[in-house]
Amino acid sequence: MTTVYLNGQFLRLEQARISPLDRGFNYGDGVYEVVRAYRGRPFRLEAHFARLADSLAKIRLGVYLSPLTDVPARLVEENGLGGGDALIYLQVTRGAAPRQHAFPPPDTKATIFAYAWELTPNPAWSAPGLTVILAPDERWARCDIKVVSLVANVLAHQRAAERGAQEALLVRDGVVLEGTLSNFFAVFEGEVRTASLSNYILPGVTRALVLELCREHGIPCRETPIFHHELAQAEELFVSSTSFGVAPIHQLDGRTLPEARPVTERLQRLLGETIARECA
Ligand code: PDD
Repeated sequence: MTTVYLNGQFLRLEQARISPLDRGFNYGDGVYEVVRAYRGRPFRLEAHFARLADSLAKIRLGVYLSPLTDVPARLVEENGLGGGDALIYLQVTRGAAPRQHAFPPPDTKATIFAYAWELTPNPAWSAPGLTVILAPDERWARCDIKVVSLVANVLAHQRAAERGAQEALLVRDGVVLEGTLSNFFAVFEGEVRTASLSNYILPGVTRALVLELCREHGIPCRETPIFHHELAQAEELFVSSTSFGVAPIHQLDGRTLPEARPVTERLQRLLGETIARECA
C-alpha cells in the first residue's frame, strides 16, 4: 500500500483524488522535481528546491515551499524505502479551474502531489554503460523550466527504447544539448565539456555537481557547445542525472566507444564519495 502526499495530507494512493479540471492535466500547466534518497536521506535537497522555486517563478506560480521540504524524507519513511535508494516525484500545478488559457482566479489553489518509489540502479548503466541515440530536439524553447509537459521528451525517449537504447541525446542546430532526462558531457583531450546553461537545457543538479567536482579536483572542464560533428573525436561521452548519477555512454548510434574512460570513472567515484559523505 503506497502512501502519497496530496495538498497537505499524507494518504493512500487509492484515496488520492485530483480534479479532471486540473490545469496540470488539461494544459501541462505545472512543474516538477525528482529527488533521490540514499538510505532514507534525500540528496542535494536544497538544490532541488531551489530549482523548483525557480521553475515556479518562471511560470509565475506563487507557492510557499517551506512546508514541503520534509515531504521527500517523510514519503520515504512512510513507504518503508529507507533501506535503499528511492526516487521522490514532486509536482505543482496551477490547480483546478474551468478551461481558459489565461491564469485562473487568484484564489485557485495550486495542486501539490508527491510520491516515492524504490530505485534499483541497473548495473549495466555503469558497465558496459548506456546505449544512446541522437534525435532531433523537438522541445519548446524554455527547456530550463522543469515543466510537466514532456511529450517531446517522451517521443524521443520512446524512439531510443525502440532501438534498444536507454537515452536519446537531443540535437538542435547542430549542437548536442542534453538527453531526454539527463545532461550530456563529452571529454576532448582530457577536458570535460558540457553545454552552457541557457533556455535550451535543464540546469541539472547532478550537472552542477559534476562541474563542482571537476573544479575541486583539478579536472579541466568547460561549459561550451558540443557540436554533432565533433562527437567522433571525443574520447569519452557520459550523461548525468538524478537517476543515472554519472553514467558512461558505451554506444552511440551503433558506434561502440573506447573501453578506457578514466575521466568518467573518476567522476563516478567522486560522486559516490560525495553521496556517501552527505547521506551518511
Ligand atoms: N530528469 N535534463 C533533463 C531534460 C531532465 O529531465 C533531467 C532530470 C536532467 C538531469 O537533471 P538532474 O541531475 O537534476 O536530475 C537533465 C528527471 C530525473 C526526470 O525527468 O526523471
